[in-house]
Amino acid sequence: MTSRDVIRLPARRMTPLLALLGARRSTRSFTGSALHVDGLSHVLRAGLGRRPDGGSVVPSAHGLYRLGIRVIAGGVGGLSPGTYTYSPTDDVLLSDIEGDHRAEVASATLVDEEWAQKASALLVVTVELSVLQSHFHDQPPVGQRGDRYAWMEAGHISQSIYLAAAELNLRTVLIAGFDDDRLSATVASLFPSMPAGSTPVALMALDGR
Ligand SMILES: Cc1cc2nc3c(=O)[nH]c(=O)nc-3n(C[C@H](O)[C@H](O)[C@H](O)COP(=O)(O)O)c2cc1C
Repeated sequence: MTSRDVIRLPARRMTPLLALLGARRSTRSFTGSALHVDGLSHVLRAGLGRRPDGGSVVPSAHGLYRLGIRVIAGGVGGLSPGTYTYSPTDDVLLSDIEGDHRAEVASATLVDEEWAQKASALLVVTVELSVLQSHFHDQPPVGQRGDRYAWMEAGHISQSIYLAAAELNLRTVLIAGFDDDRLSATVASLFPSMPAGSTPVALMALDGR
């Protein structure tokens, strides 16, 4: 085996971003009560809010912006139990249906039902997959590029949510292990305003501390 040069990197600069990345972690023990709508708003703005210049805080292939964050609130202080859609353009929550629906959503996960339903809120990242698929249909590998971009954008949103939660000392975890068909059906019933052809791509549990 040939020897390889080792290039020492410059000294680490402990910036606020690196500190935040160092504080990010997945948490799965929830009390279901300590999250306030202030914290939820901060997380939503970090996940999908607008920049001061009108762009988005997360990148989007061809600037299509067809991913959304939908909220299943059960124990969020200052917010009635119900389902809500975050509108980044107006920076508001739009109500969908009333009531605590966390257990229905948690039961569509593969192994996480028991603790996931205890989080104050569950956030579902959805994508208008059919729009991405048809928009990128001519980019090889044909038929797959739209799906790939959806996963990538969901990753950006999830990481931003993780970082915002770390910043405010909230608890969160990305749950991507779920029954696709079951979660799709549940989310469709909980969010009647959701555009046709939308699909859940990520689920995050969010709680206070
Ligand atoms: C694509 C992806 C899917 C994940 N799915 C789940 C999941 O279904 N359930 C869960 O409890 N954690 C899930 N996680 C969280 C990982 O288990 C977690 O990130 C990992 O254990 C490392 O821990 P850390 O996030 O605290 O660094 C997922 C993470 C990623 C990136």
